[in-house]
This record gives sequence, structure tokens and C-alpha cells, in this order.
Amino acid sequence: MEVIILPTEEDVFLEASGRIVGLIHRKPDAVLGLATGKTMLGVYRNLTAAHEQGKVDFSSVTTINLDEYLGIDPANPLSFHSYMRKNFFDHVNVLQENILIPHPLPDDVEAECENFERQIKKRGGIDLQLLGIGRDGHIGFNEPSSSLQARTRVKTLTDQTLKDNFGSTEGPRFAITMGIGTIMEAGEIVLVALGNEKSEAISHMVEGPVTASCPASALQLHPKVKVIVDHEAAWLLKRKEYYLWVWEHKNEVENPH
Ligand code: GLP
Repeated sequence: MEVIILPTEEDVFLEASGRIVGLIHRKPDAVLGLATGKTMLGVYRNLTAAHEQGKVDFSSVTTINLDEYLGIDPANPLSFHSYMRKNFFDHVNVLQENILIPHPLPDDVEAECENFERQIKKRGGIDLQLLGIGRDGHIGFNEPSSSLQARTRVKTLTDQTLKDNFGSTEGPRFAITMGIGTIMEAGEIVLVALGNEKSEAISHMVEGPVTASCPASALQLHPKVKVIVDHEAAWLLKRKEYYLWVWEHKNEVENPH
């Protein structure tokens, strides 16, 4: 894992969005795995700005979202369909036919999950998966105790996640989510986290054991992961000074001669 600790939230958003823009420049028909949540808003804001300035073109890009609540209308403002439209798709030129998000009201849930996996494969797999992290170490909606090899399926959300996402335990209880096994097949992963409230999850993910008790810790087994965080989210990391040194000397590390 490459741990990149940056001084401000804006630096974190810029670093993450810059990696996505860089990928699209190298590969205009890239397949992006996208995430939702408050943390991602700044990333989408930067991507939108880059698009408006003519720095990035999404017309050949495919986007595949990690997850969606189950049992609500896609037009419901709580849905990730709505979130993505409002915060990203309405502002950039991703083509409708190149957008894939699990359907929140499928006729057959199991068939929807299988079809979602098939669609990812049909599009050649995900080049870069953007991730946030829950306070309990979940990625997508893979809550603690999720199998580290699972594929797309329905998961039950914890009370903690409901409170974090809706302010109470009244929100949608179930979600369709890519499994950790699905996420691990992405070519590269960029995980973004901000603030003290994520510091425990970040420390368990980066420096704890690989365990289903912290599903994000499975990313230790992925060869190309960038963890982009601010100092608050990084403060519990034991090797914080080491990560900072490596980042500061990145050029020397990559070109030693
Ligand atoms: C939800 C999403 C995750 C996201 C997490 C953190 O549970 N399913 O993909 O990483 O929220 O969100 P936030 O950035 O709002 O803390």
C-alpha cells in the first residue's frame, strides 16, 4: 500500500481526482469504479471542474458504482442513483449507456447481482476503483464479518452505518454491493479518507491484520493501492513518519540513479 498523507482536504481531493484524470489521459475508454459518501463530493467537484476547463473528456469512459440501497426508487434523493446524478453525471459527459449502478428495485435480486458481475466482466473489468471507508472499516457496503472473497450480493447495514449515512437507524437496511472479491480484481485502487473519525479504520486497514473484522484490510493483498488521507485520518498510524518520508522523496524512490 502506498500511504499518501496530505495537509488539507483540498490536497486530498486534488491528488485523488488527478489520478483519475491521468488514467483517462492514458486510456480514454477507461472503466472507473465509483463510490459515494460525503468524502467523494470533493473528488467529484474537482473532476467536474477539470471537465469544465476542458482538461478531461468522459465521453468514452465507463463508470461502475460500488453499491446501491435496496428497496428504494432510483429517483429517491437517498439513492446512489440520485447522488451520482446530482454530484457528477449531470455535470460531465459520461454517456448514459456507459453508467452501471446496481438497481435498487430489481425483480430478482440474485439475478441482478449476477448480471452486475457479468456486466463488469463484459466491460473488461475495472481499471481504477475509487473507495471511501466506513468508520467500521467497511468498503462498499461490505460490513465487518463480510467474506473477503465475496462477489456482488445483498448485505445488511449495521446500525453504525445507518446512523453515519442517515443520522438515524431509519434508513434503508439492505444494499447491493460489490464484494471484496469483486473490488480486489480492479487494476488499481484509490482509497480516500478524511478526518479523525476515520483514523481507527485507517490504522486497522493499513497496519492491522488482514481480517474480515476490518474488510478494508483485505486491500493489503492488492498490489496497487493508494491510500490518500489527511493528517487527522492518519494520526493513529504507527509508521506515519515513514509514509511521509517516502512521499516526500518519491522522485528519488522511483528514480534512484
Ligand atoms: C457508505 C458507502 C461507502 C463509503 C462510506 C463512507 O457506507 N457505501 O462506499 O465509503 O459510506 O462515507 P463518507 O465519505 O460519507 O464517510
